[in-house]
Amino acid sequence: MNANNANPEDEVMCHCSGTTRGNIQTLFEQGMSMDAISRWTGAISGCGGCEWDIAQLLNDLAERQT
Ligand code: FES
Repeated sequence: MNANNANPEDEVMCHCSGTTRGNIQTLFEQGMSMDAISRWTGAISGCGGCEWDIAQLLNDLAERQT
């Protein structure tokens, strides 16, 4: 694992569905809720292990918008 990933958007946040940080960010910017993103990408609908990380990312994105 490289914490200084040159392209963090390519970081896979949900390994079950292969959903990347960039995917989630784009869908968030289109106004999708966490539920909608989950249904659209399959994220959080497998093992559920990514749920906390994705919730955290969406919180961070929401805070940056205000
Ligand atoms: S890593 Fe996202 S559901 Fe398993």
